[in-house]
Amino acid sequence: MILKTSEKNRLRQQYGPWAVVTGASSGIGLELARLLADAGLQLVINARQIERLAPVAQQLRETYGIDVRMVAADVSAPGGVQQLIDDTDGLDVGLLVLSAGFGTSGLFLRSNLDEEINLLRVNAEAVLSLTHHFGRRFAAQHRGGIILLSSMVAFQGVPYAANYAASKAYVQSLAEALALELKPDGVDVLAAAPGPVRSGFEQRANMAMTMSLTPEQVGVPILRALGRQTTVLPGWLTKLLVYALRTVPRWGKVRIMQQVMGGMTQHQRQLQPNP
Ligand SMILES: NC(=O)c1ccc[n+]([C@@H]2O[C@H](COP(=O)([O-])OP(=O)(O)OC[C@H]3O[C@@H](n4cnc5c(N)ncnc54)[C@H](OP(=O)(O)O)[C@@H]3O)[C@@H](O)[C@H]2O)c1
Repeated sequence: MILKTSEKNRLRQQYGPWAVVTGASSGIGLELARLLADAGLQLVINARQIERLAPVAQQLRETYGIDVRMVAADVSAPGGVQQLIDDTDGLDVGLLVLSAGFGTSGLFLRSNLDEEINLLRVNAEAVLSLTHHFGRRFAAQHRGGIILLSSMVAFQGVPYAANYAASKAYVQSLAEALALELKPDGVDVLAAAPGPVRSGFEQRANMAMTMSLTPEQVGVPILRALGRQTTVLPGWLTKLLVYALRTVPRWGKVRIMQQVMGGMTQHQRQLQPNP
């Protein structure tokens, strides 16, 4: 999917000239960075691994003729968030996209607590810190946009991905509230809540997706929704899955998600029988 010229102009005029994109070396963040570059915004791109970030920067510069700066930093560490803040200090930033994030899955009691705490740092604490910093900057200039990556798992508890789903419930709730609170300050906040998307996510989360969207199917709907909606369910599969559960009470959704995530993590239990 591609953006219309009028959409590109809108993004550049309302949210340019610079955009900061975390998690920009892969998946959804990479696709959003590519679309923003195509719309003519200059980019600050972030991820931990410079060897994956550098080719992305080079390709975006060559293909779209834009200025791209890299911040190779781990946002789970306070130093990483600070580096991103320091390196964007002198730039006229109008858009923040927080796509850095990861999932975990499997039985909660078998999970590695350090990894689960790290998940909260990336998916929630870094989102809080960066949204606070850039929210203030954007409010001061009375202009800006913030896109937070929620998920369809944010709308109910999800057995076998309990901590990941809880982290996304935090993001969803934060975005919904700030969308209204920051509106008078001229700042647009959007929760993007995709269903399954094929990317680096699946392998890191150790989930086996049977049906999924591509990053290309979710990028355009996310950017189109910025400034127009509070929450976007990008892609046909996301809409299908969320709307199919719309009339089910929350406790019932949790039961259904148990079945769904149970299937996506079954391979783990085959390797390691239940105690
Ligand atoms: N894929 C899905 O099914 C799906 C569905 C709903 C929501 N989401 C959400 O969408 C977001 C993007 O996911 P994705 O599917 O694009 O995953 P992905 O392909 O694995 O990309 C994750 C990106 O985040 C970066 N990253 C991970 N940990 C980081 C850290 N500590 N500090 C800085 N950067 C870090 C990764 O680069 P490095 O490894 O080099 O750091 C990579 O660029 C996540 O928040 C995810 O929860 C995904």
